[in-house]
Amino acid sequence: MKKKIGIGKSHSKLILMGEHAVVYGYPAIAIPLKSIEVTCWVEASDHLLIKNAQDPLSVAIFTALDHLKQEAYITYRVNSTVPERRGLGSSAAVAIAAIRAVFDYFNCPLSEPLLDKLASKAEEVAHYNPSGLDVKTCLADSAIHFVRGQGFSNLHFDLNAYLVIADTGVHGHTKEAVEKVKNLGQSARENLDLLGALTLKAEASLLKGDVLGLGRGMTQAHQGLSDLGVSCPEADNLVRQALEYGALGSKMTGGGLGGCIISLVKTESEAENLAKKLEEKGARNTWIQRL
Ligand code: MEV
Repeated sequence: MKKKIGIGKSHSKLILMGEHAVVYGYPAIAIPLKSIEVTCWVEASDHLLIKNAQDPLSVAIFTALDHLKQEAYITYRVNSTVPERRGLGSSAAVAIAAIRAVFDYFNCPLSEPLLDKLASKAEEVAHYNPSGLDVKTCLADSAIHFVRGQGFSNLHFDLNAYLVIADTGVHGHTKEAVEKVKNLGQSARENLDLLGALTLKAEASLLKGDVLGLGRGMTQAHQGLSDLGVSCPEADNLVRQALEYGALGSKMTGGGLGGCIISLVKTESEAENLAKKLEEKGARNTWIQRL
């Protein structure tokens, strides 16, 4: 029995350490951003919906419809506070919300493994060779340690520190960035090894409560990602400004070639001040996340 309206929600994600290296089997640490959300609504329609194979949202809707073997006499709308193409997992969050909404509309149960599988399939349109990290973090309740093909474990820490997320205002290009790293071939190996080692160190810092160590590692990771060619001048500039204003560490987050940076500070008032300063220096938008 169909419902009048199907609703699906998802939160977004932030990669603390390990983006790009995670594609090659190195560990990554990522955090769900519960206050940045997507909601999708599905309703009946007299017209058959047409699939747009270039649009991740449309692909996610059809991935769910195909799985349920249902015809597309539906319409959908989305409300999102996740900025698109800024490395905060908007494509994974949109896919999860859309698949949940379709299953809800058709009143069908949806297990988490099935949702993970269908959202990961839809993600292949937005990403090139996705590691699965984005979908997993958008489904997670707390920070995770993730290794491609091996799964994830929850990380529990209370660092009593804050991350300032700052949007460069430039669209990220995850697919192109992942291809760029792939095309580097063996010459990327040294940097990927470095990023993998920094992620493990960051995990130890998180668990020990070593805020300074975490900050240092973040800045080194930014350099490693920049050396791989996946940062951009706007992100490099905001990272430099954040460090000049006293951040303990700063780096790009997500696929890169645009998108957001994250900076670590100790207190909420330092986070608020830094957010204001980064906005004065050109950040399009900022968010604060407790670690
Ligand atoms: C994109 O959010 C993260 C990357 O590591 C790609 C992936 O994990 O699929 C760049």
